[in-house]
Amino acid sequence: MKDKKGYIDMHSHLLWGVDDGAKTEDESLYYLHDLKCQGVDTAVLTPHMNSPYILGGCADEETLRRRFAELKDVCEKDSEKYPKLILGSEYHYDIRCDKNYRGGSDTLYTIEPADFHPITMGQTDWVLLELPWDISMFDLLITLKSVARAGYRAILAHPEKCITIEYEVLKSSFMSKLRKYYGRKIYVQNEAWDIANNYEMARWFVKNKITTVIGTDSHGEHRPPVFNKAVQRLDEIVEDKDYLSAILSKNAETILKCVK
Ligand SMILES: [Fe+2]
Repeated sequence: MKDKKGYIDMHSHLLWGVDDGAKTEDESLYYLHDLKCQGVDTAVLTPHMNSPYILGGCADEETLRRRFAELKDVCEKDSEKYPKLILGSEYHYDIRCDKNYRGGSDTLYTIEPADFHPITMGQTDWVLLELPWDISMFDLLITLKSVARAGYRAILAHPEKCITIEYEVLKSSFMSKLRKYYGRKIYVQNEAWDIANNYEMARWFVKNKITTVIGTDSHGEHRPPVFNKAVQRLDEIVEDKDYLSAILSKNAETILKCVK
């Protein structure tokens, strides 16, 4: 895969000053250039919209869209140096918690379709859904069905970090049960860092061909992108090179072309 170009990073916090990711425009540009050097031609910027983990809350949508337009403009003027930028977002599974939600219980509320107007992945009908580390099968199913009822489709963000999934996966049952009860394909984004560091759960998703796309989840200086290291590791563990190509770019291309 050494000569492969055109990777798509489906998850990052490199839009500066809107969440716990990059803090300045310089920091954004530094790591976006880093991504480009790693072979990433398209980066979907996915700021937290309602994370319970961010002190001070997340930026309002207007600020976020304005800052994205400014950053995109800078990158488009030097496309040799920077990847193409697409605006997405990351929603905590409890989508009804607002941008100032600061924790407490992770009680699930079903989404009222009329109340849900997400910033989607590149103006498609896809939303990136962050799961709490201990989400139950029941909560996840309700969330997926609620998102579907609102007219959207979910990509699960780095489910390898969820200990409940890990526990069930060790019994090889969580994902198959989820598919069965949900009745549709499950779309999964696994994290480049987890793959690069040979994290067992990330390997499990890849080896069982459950991974749909890869994202760095880079937070800038706090968590630099390691897309190229993940590619090297994937090249070692994935025998089916068509599948490898799919998760590095083709699946993301298909998702991003699906305009709502
Ligand atoms: Fe994230």
